[in-house]
Amino acid sequence: MTPDRLRDHFPVLGRTAYLANCSLGARSAELAASQADMLAAMNGVGNPWPAFEEQVTQVRNAVGGLLGTGPDDVSLQPCASVAAYQVASGFSWSRGRRRILTTRREFPSIAQVWLAQQRGGAEVVFVDDGDTSSGGVPDEEQYTRLLDERVALVSVPLATYREAALLPVATIAAAAHAADAYQALGTMPLTVGRLGCGYLAGGTMKYLLGLPGLAFVYARPGLRADRPPQLTGWSGQRDPFAFDPRRLDFADGGTRYETGTPSVPAVYAANAGLGLIARLDLHAVRDHISRLTRYAADQLSEAGERVLAPPQCGAHVAFFDQDPAGLAAGWPSAASWPAPRRRRATGRPFLHHFPRRRPRLHRDLLVPGRQYSNGACLA
Ligand SMILES: Cc1ncc(COP(=O)(O)O)c(C=O)c1O
Repeated sequence: MTPDRLRDHFPVLGRTAYLANCSLGARSAELAASQADMLAAMNGVGNPWPAFEEQVTQVRNAVGGLLGTGPDDVSLQPCASVAAYQVASGFSWSRGRRRILTTRREFPSIAQVWLAQQRGGAEVVFVDDGDTSSGGVPDEEQYTRLLDERVALVSVPLATYREAALLPVATIAAAAHAADAYQALGTMPLTVGRLGCGYLAGGTMKYLLGLPGLAFVYARPGLRADRPPQLTGWSGQRDPFAFDPRRLDFADGGTRYETGTPSVPAVYAANAGLGLIARLDLHAVRDHISRLTRYAADQLSEAGERVLAPPQCGAHVAFFDQDPAGLAAGWPSAASWPAPRRRRATGRPFLHHFPRRRPRLHRDLLVPGRQYSNGACLA
C-alpha cells in the first residue's frame, strides 16, 4: 500500500488535515473495528480471554516484526516510562558503572525515570548541559567524549519530541545503549539490528496508529543476563499460569519485563495500527513525510514563523511561539489540531500532517487573527 492509499483508511482525513500524530495518531477505520471486535468477544456466551490472549500474542509478533527481531525479545508495557523503569531496574547503581548519559532533548518522562535512579546511586549526566544554543541538539561527539568506564547506560531519543531532530543512535556505540524510538517508529524503516541498541522503547498511540495504554521495550538477549526487573507480575513469569504466590520465576525471554494484565483495548487497537503499518513500505513513508515536513516548514517560514529545522528531521515540524497553549486554543478546530508541548515562554507547538492532502496554509497552518511578518493574516 502506498502512503497515499493509506489515507483512505482514515475517515477523519476527509474533514481535516490531521496535524497531531506526534501526540496521538489519527483514528483509522481499522481501529474503530478493532474495538468493536473486542466488545463482540465480550458479548458472546463464551470466555473472551482466549481471544484476548491471541491478540496479545499477535501484538508481540507484530512489534517484533516491526523492529526486525523476534517476539521473544520484546515485552509489552503500559507506557514508555514504565519501559524505561524496567530497563533501569536491571542495573546495580550502587557500585561499578553508575553513570547514565542522557540529553536535555530526552522526552522528560524518560529522563525523569533516569533521575529517579539517583536515589539508588546512579549519576545522571546530560551530555548537552552547558549548551545554550536554542535550537541545538546533541551530536555524536557530545555523547562519545563522555563515554568512559563510569558509564552504565547511554540513552538517546531517536527523534526528539520537540524539534523532531533525528539523533545518531546507530553511531553512538556504547555497551548498553537505550533508544527511545517513540517519535520515529512507523515513520521510517528501523531495525534494532541496524541501530545496534541494547534497549529500544516505543509505544503504539502515535505513528503506530493505536491507542494510549500500550508501549513496549526491546532488550538485546545478552543484556537480559543482568538483574531481573523490580516491577513484575504474572506476565513476567516463565509460566504465567503457575499461580504460585511464593515463587518468582522470571521468564527467560523479553516477557520477563512484563507485569500484569495489559490494556486489552489498546492491544486490539495496536494490532489494527500495526496491521496497517505492515502493509506499507516504510522507505516510501519516510520519503513522503520528508516532502510534507519540508513543505510545511517552508510555508510556516514564509508566513514569518521561526521554524526549528534540524538537519535530520523526523516526522513533525515545530516552531517557536510565546504562548503555545494559547496558540493551540485559537487553532481553527474544524481544520486540525496541533500539539503544544511546552507551556514556557519559548514553547513550541508541534505539527504533524498526515499523507496526501497538503495542509493549506490559510486553512490549516495559520491561525485566525494572528499577524504574520509577511503580512498574512486570517480574519
Ligand atoms: C519521545 C517520546 N517518548 C515517550 C513518550 C510517551 O511516554 P509515556 O508512554 O511514558 O507517556 C512520548 C510522548 O509524547 C514521546 O514523544
